[in-house]
Amino acid sequence: MEPGKVIITLIPNGPAKVECDEAQIVMTDGTTQTKTGRFSLCRCGESKTKPYCDGTHKTCGFEG
Ligand code: FES
Repeated sequence: MEPGKVIITLIPNGPAKVECDEAQIVMTDGTTQTKTGRFSLCRCGESKTKPYCDGTHKTCGFEG
């Protein structure tokens, strides 16, 4: 992947897959998490590990 480039792929009926060298995620409480490589952000709203996908979209009937 090109340095500095971020690729976000929306998976049908699933998460937003993020591919990057490094991402800073600012949480709702103001803390920051650093993620590298590949990770998935929940789009269904049912993950117990928000903002990350925990696979719950497969059983909650999410469409989108
Ligand atoms: S998109 Fe996977 S748990 Fe929400």
